[in-house]
Amino acid sequence: MKITIMTLFKETIDQILNYSIMGRAKKSNQIELEAIDIRPFAANKHHQVDDYPYGGGAGMLMMAQPICDCFEHVKETMPGVKPRVLYMTPQGKVWNQQMAEEFAKEEHIVILCGHYEGVDQRVIDEIVTDEISIGDYVLTGGELPAVIIADSIMRLKPGVLGKQESFEEESFSDGLLEYPHYTRPAEFRGRKVPAELLSGNHKKIEEFRREQSLINTYNKRPDLLKKANLSIKDKRFLENYAKNHCK
Ligand code: ADE
Repeated sequence: MKITIMTLFKETIDQILNYSIMGRAKKSNQIELEAIDIRPFAANKHHQVDDYPYGGGAGMLMMAQPICDCFEHVKETMPGVKPRVLYMTPQGKVWNQQMAEEFAKEEHIVILCGHYEGVDQRVIDEIVTDEISIGDYVLTGGELPAVIIADSIMRLKPGVLGKQESFEEESFSDGLLEYPHYTRPAEFRGRKVPAELLSGNHKKIEEFRREQSLINTYNKRPDLLKKANLSIKDKRFLENYAKNHCK
């Protein structure tokens, strides 16, 4: 799989992409991850990439020509592959884990970062397949959202994370938040690790973790419970918990 981030701030993206798990995944060729600078594709003499909006208004817009020519070049690097082209915008569909899983099946993903007041609408009409937001707030550019999207997709690819289990039991994998984790010592500032985790009884540990996961979701993100994958036993546990912990 290849992810290409089209941006006016390539160095910013490169710095983040070379860091931590993303950097490791990039170096080990498990996934091809690159940032490409749009500016050299500007056909005008001064490599200008932005201009005033027709009709007036605040700020500048990214021009269509440099972006579309940059995209033609990017497409040529993956002959015969039709990429999904994601434009980062607060107007887009709000990103979630399910979308990350869907996009992780694609062969080539191109992420376009807007800057200033955004891009000429004809870019969206011409090349964008999906408008994506990372939440209902406005940022100064699409670079940080692009890295967030790339990270959430890339970590789902086999071999990028250490162990398969590291994402089988994590938050959202079955629509619930994860259970709390503990490491040594068994007691810290008077706070003890729950006895169930020290019991060595795997069935008991599994049951305890499931219940903690249900409690966490009930308390922090009750909205997720409506869509979660719950057994009859889970539902009974939650009913009982809710009775004793009225909010
Ligand atoms: N660009 C500016 N704000 C954004 C947001 N919330 N999500 C994605 N791209 C953006």
